[in-house]
Amino acid sequence: MARIALVTGVGKETGLGFAVAAELARRGDRVWIAARTLAQAEAMVQAVGGDTVPVALDLSDRSAVADLAGRVQKDEGRLDVLINNAAAVAPWGETAAGADLEVARGVMDVTLFGTWAMCEAFLPLLRVAPAGRLVNVSSGAGSHGDQAFGLTTANGMGTSYAVAKAALNALTAKLAREEASAVKINAVCPGFTATFPGGSEMGARPVAEGAASILWAADLPNDGPTGGFFRDGKPLPW
Ligand SMILES: NC(=O)c1ccc[n+]([C@@H]2O[C@H](COP(=O)([O-])OP(=O)(O)OC[C@H]3O[C@@H](n4cnc5c(N)ncnc54)[C@H](OP(=O)(O)O)[C@@H]3O)[C@@H](O)[C@H]2O)c1
Repeated sequence: MARIALVTGVGKETGLGFAVAAELARRGDRVWIAARTLAQAEAMVQAVGGDTVPVALDLSDRSAVADLAGRVQKDEGRLDVLINNAAAVAPWGETAAGADLEVARGVMDVTLFGTWAMCEAFLPLLRVAPAGRLVNVSSGAGSHGDQAFGLTTANGMGTSYAVAKAALNALTAKLAREEASAVKINAVCPGFTATFPGGSEMGARPVAEGAASILWAADLPNDGPTGGFFRDGKPLPW
């Protein structure tokens, strides 16, 4: 049976959301592709291919999250796969002691609370699917143990991004702990991936590899893990 999937942050062809959506569509799944504006999502339809439904979703707009869940409920009656891929970027070089907290609040609002709102809104639809899978796309930036980009390293990605991803990991663990249904809820890091200009030259890996890391959690068998944090199917330290 074709699955019904929803992927957020499918706003550009260079991104992980696009690659994940295209792979799901290639396999025959029906993919709802969400971008910040409807025009962005509609512009992706042809390139994603397959059976797609373009929708607008700005994660800072909670009513948009609820409206979208209502639409999926009405049109599909269930959701098999939710890929919470969208995230806000923090200002480059933002420090913990010197961050503009209004800016940091904006990053957290999208990356943590926007994703949290998606989990709340769509879990009822995932629960009625035969094998619901919820994937929160996280980052090693939110890990104590990631030696390249983690919380104990010096890098310029911005504190609010790292803190939001660490909190997203914690949220994932709490959600999975509570979930009494068969829905599997995991956080996944795609790894350092070339979704930005010059990425390959900096050593980032091809987008297809980062996307495969995410898809692994969407494709888990019924005896697969839940409540974990993974990259390439292997546990990452929190
Ligand atoms: N690339 C890496 O090395 C790497 C490493 C670890 C984790 N990740 C994670 O992987 C995911 C995808 O990142 P990416 O590298 O593919 O970058 P990306 O293309 O910039 O993806 C981020 C997406 O989130 C969307 N977004 C931002 N704010 C939003 C909002 N308020 N509402 C809805 N959508 C919003 C962006 O939309 P716009 O295009 O409109 O801005 C964009 O489509 C992110 O969660 C990121 O943290 C990436």
